Amino acid sequence: MSVAKKEYKRVTVKSLVDMKKHGEKISMLTAYDYSMAKMVDAAGIDVVLVGDSASNVMAGHETTLPITLDQMIYHASSVIRAIDRALVVVDLPFGSYQSDPKEALRSAIRIMKESGAHAVKLEGGKEIKESIKRILNAGIPVMGHLGLTPQSIYKFGTYTVRAKEDQEAEKLKEDAKYLEKIGCFAIVLEKIPANLAKEVAQSVSIPIIGIGAGNGVDGQVLVIHDMLGITHEFSPRFLRRYLNLYDEITGAVSQYVADVKNQDFPNDDEQY
Ligand code: KIV
Repeated sequence: MSVAKKEYKRVTVKSLVDMKKHGEKISMLTAYDYSMAKMVDAAGIDVVLVGDSASNVMAGHETTLPITLDQMIYHASSVIRAIDRALVVVDLPFGSYQSDPKEALRSAIRIMKESGAHAVKLEGGKEIKESIKRILNAGIPVMGHLGLTPQSIYKFGTYTVRAKEDQEAEKLKEDAKYLEKIGCFAIVLEKIPANLAKEVAQSVSIPIIGIGAGNGVDGQVLVIHDMLGITHEFSPRFLRRYLNLYDEITGAVSQYVADVKNQDFPNDDEQY
């Protein structure tokens, strides 16, 4: 279904709720640096997520666990300098909010103050409710994240689809309603059955943004390195690749290497 797009000069947390109300799907992508964020914003993305997936795609770690709060702030402030329109949400990294609500608030305040971000995202449901409430009470918008929560990968053991069993699905539905009730402005649902994600989206008034959660939700998010084909070895079923930059870039670089070796570069027009 195509829906007439209302113009949002600047996307706010209120615009996202408005989009859901009017049936306009929300587009969200990650970005971690100034140049990429500039292009993503110019292309009209609604939400830029400075995800802790920076730990994987920017730093080469196997999981999202190693990235620090200082590193997230560095990425977020680079992104913020590039953005004119999109809402910028920043992940609270592993270890910056789990031990107690005061620590969670301190971490969220550092992100907001030092990077200029517009909102934060935390992984988890009721078990982190006190931290979420404290951050919300300070006036900081919070996006929730349920389903596959990569910061808990060592508890899950694998990155396979979550909430396929009734018990986990029930908990996820309760958590989504609870996050809405305490004041989260949106929720990311990662890698869960499409029917369940659709049911959750229909049961709450805040936007549900899916990744590997089907088409019945209010918006979609992907990791930019995956959708541009920079991370060519990562091919989950939910991923649509829009480019194959791994091949494009390695091709261009090997051409450059050959040109330098052959003394073809620089030519007479490329020097002073
Ligand atoms: O860190 C991240 O990129 C994320 C998305 C996968 C939603 O949390």
